[in-house]
Amino acid sequence: MGLQQSDALDVERRREDFPILQREFDGQQVVYLDNGATTQKPDAVVDAIADYYRTYNANVHRGIHQLSQEASIAYEEAHDTVAEFVGADGREEMVFTKNTTEAENLVAYAWGLNELGPGDEVVLTEMEHHASLVTWQQIAEKTGADVKYVPITDEGYLDMEAAADLITDDTEMVSVLHVSNTLGTVNPVADLADLAHDHDAYIFVDGAQAVPNRPVDVEAIDADFYAFSGHKMLGPTGIGGLYGRKELLEGMEPFQYGGDMIRKVTFEDVTWNDLPWKYEAGTPVIAQGIGLAAAVDYLEDVGMDAVRRHEERLAGYALDRFAEFDDLTVYGPTDPEDRGGLVAFNLDGVHAHDLASIMNDHAVAIRAGDHCTQPLHDVLGVAASARASFYLYNTTDEIDELLEAIDSARELFA
Ligand SMILES: Cc1ncc(COP(=O)(O)O)c(C=O)c1O
Repeated sequence: MGLQQSDALDVERRREDFPILQREFDGQQVVYLDNGATTQKPDAVVDAIADYYRTYNANVHRGIHQLSQEASIAYEEAHDTVAEFVGADGREEMVFTKNTTEAENLVAYAWGLNELGPGDEVVLTEMEHHASLVTWQQIAEKTGADVKYVPITDEGYLDMEAAADLITDDTEMVSVLHVSNTLGTVNPVADLADLAHDHDAYIFVDGAQAVPNRPVDVEAIDADFYAFSGHKMLGPTGIGGLYGRKELLEGMEPFQYGGDMIRKVTFEDVTWNDLPWKYEAGTPVIAQGIGLAAAVDYLEDVGMDAVRRHEERLAGYALDRFAEFDDLTVYGPTDPEDRGGLVAFNLDGVHAHDLASIMNDHAVAIRAGDHCTQPLHDVLGVAASARASFYLYNTTDEIDELLEAIDSARELFA
């Protein structure tokens, strides 16, 4: 098995924690390279969720009984675990949402709808995921604000000179992804935070492709908001994290109303609950929160520096192998240190969907389409691309298998 060992990361040992990786289709073992869409879950995460349901299932914050107390403690401590993982200052700054998309909507509705108006600007980038692009576009339409886009360079980086021109005193919010889910580019989010703050604007960082793959410190970035999805970092679906600076979360209106997010209600009036519960209306994502905390424990055991180095090496290996073929177009920076562990590409003369389907015949799972970045694909001048995205359990052998499957597509369409 190629690249079994990346520094402290023993890939072969870790793969044993993911029984799904042993699945075979027509006698071929699955090669799972669709981690940008969602990652597989180690036994530790599945067990933590099953343990909650089997041994202490109860609603939280509502019962005096023992089961509810145990569930409440586990759920609250999950916030501490996740907050610490991204450098937030405790559970008050860590709201559990459904996913990155909901975190984006939470801030857009709770802050944007109330704070934006005609003459205000929201600055996005050409590489934004629809989660941010569509959300801010719609909030801008509702409020009369304008949306501006920082362009990308031919090499797939953000044009930082253009960013410095576009972010002005009219800017109220800069929303940017940390790592592009199509180009792989790692964006200079701390520099963008400085630019935003120089103009008294806030910055929202979409970390959906960053938190799973590299150490993230929201305070070092000086982010005002930072969002990510549990299912892309070994956790279950149905949970995401929204970091928000405490004074901002305290000052904002709630996103949704109902039980658990209130302190005192009368027929005339209401006061809000403490952070972060003010933003978690109704029965929250209890099992998912416990599962996400187990995923964070697992990642910390592996070590995020080791995960980042492993991803860089896999991306570097893939870029070198792809460069052997003239008929493969790869998007994004060529230096693996400037990118996360994913590679979007096209094979001349073969539609990305056909390519993914042929990969499937070889039990290689990749994604094909626009990866929720249609405007970026317009900039790239293609309707779709194929994407291989790696994680801590992938090997260079699997990248070779991907290349072999691409070769059979080549033969088929020759
Ligand atoms: C960069 C980026 N942002 C946001 C999202 C949306 O994540 P979710 O669907 O979990 O809300 C994704 C998922 O593909 C992503 O890659």
